[in-house]
Amino acid sequence: MSTSPKRMAAAYLPGNSTVELREVPVPKPGHGEVLLAVRASTICGSDIRAIYREHLGKGPEGYQGVIAGHEPAGRIVALGPGCRRYKVGDRAIVYHISGCGLCNDCRRGYMISCTSSEFRRAYGWQRDGGMAEYLLAEEKDLIHLPDSLTYLDGAQVACGFGTVYEALQKIGIDGNHTVLITGLGPVGLAAAALGRKLGAEKILGIDISPERLHLARKLELFDAVLASGPNNVSEVLDQTGGHGVERAIDCSGNAEARATAIRATRKWGKIAMVGEGGSVSFNPSPDIIHDQKTILGSWVTSTWLMEELVERLVRWNLHPEQIVTHRFPLAKTSEAYALMASGQCGKVAVCPTSD
Ligand SMILES: NC(=O)c1ccc[n+]([C@@H]2O[C@H](COP(=O)([O-])OP(=O)(O)OC[C@H]3O[C@@H](n4cnc5c(N)ncnc54)[C@H](O)[C@@H]3O)[C@@H](O)[C@H]2O)c1
Ligand SMILES: [Zn+2]
Ligand SMILES: [Zn+2]
Repeated sequence: MSTSPKRMAAAYLPGNSTVELREVPVPKPGHGEVLLAVRASTICGSDIRAIYREHLGKGPEGYQGVIAGHEPAGRIVALGPGCRRYKVGDRAIVYHISGCGLCNDCRRGYMISCTSSEFRRAYGWQRDGGMAEYLLAEEKDLIHLPDSLTYLDGAQVACGFGTVYEALQKIGIDGNHTVLITGLGPVGLAAAALGRKLGAEKILGIDISPERLHLARKLELFDAVLASGPNNVSEVLDQTGGHGVERAIDCSGNAEARATAIRATRKWGKIAMVGEGGSVSFNPSPDIIHDQKTILGSWVTSTWLMEELVERLVRWNLHPEQIVTHRFPLAKTSEAYALMASGQCGKVAVCPTSD
């Protein structure tokens, strides 16, 4: 921090589809904490669904009036006492849930499911997040961002790409697999980009929005992109020699799309549920039991798998930034959320500082 500013701009989400920009004090890192100059902070579908339009989120998705943004990456500008690994100038991604560090889930690296009601606080939900010039983070929540990845790459590792990497690891992807992705928002696009690198032979995508279908085609991440409709299952069967796909991942959270993902998966296939909220209805005997299918739920990822993903992104020369279609300065955060809520975009990013 060259000039050590005392005040900073920060964005809050009052819950009526608006953004409130306030001037607040720059926080001072305490023991084991770092201060990051936020270089990129991306917007997630969860922010729109559970906070921006209305404060619908409960429990881990409960918004407690803090600075928004749970997908930050930045550069360390100050360290509190007792930091063990990072130094000023280091580039870092923030794992977006700060856990107690001591429960069984935290010890496994899954701070997302930390069981401490007192110490589990997600950035942008229960503690200040990345839609500000500076962010106070715990050193234990940081993942090193290598020089060959951009801050916009890093911000997306924090949620979308990390989440999808976890889900794809759980269902296992290889060269024998055709993969169906339902919901082609930023999370679905991340699934296609990573699915390809993990060796999927063919990747099919379904969405309901013309803009999202257009973007998916433009990015050339899919072998075929289909408009959502009542014939999706037979269309997928046509694309797969009448068998269905070996793997499916729902990134929509929509009931119809989830049912398609289940029904278009072939015998012994695996389906991951990533899109949140809503419901799904299917008939267990014909839809999964008699075809020996597995449905898995997957929630975010662990710190260690996120580190592994960062290493793979470098090795694969894969840049999550490719799915960012719009970038805004912090002063225009309001436009950024409105655009993400409209769905007429890919990933939307706010770039608060160049510090
Ligand atoms: N499981 C997790 O850990 C985790 C982490 C991050 C995000 N999420 C969730 O993943 C989902 C996707 O996130 P995103 O940022 O890409 O959000 P998004 O809202 O941009 O994407 C959802 C997509 O689903 C599409 N869709 C809606 N109805 C459809 C239908 N009938 N058929 C096909 N597609 C349909 C929408 O058009 C949109 O493109 C959200 O529900 C988000 O909350 C889950
Ligand atoms: Zn997210
Ligand atoms: Zn914990």
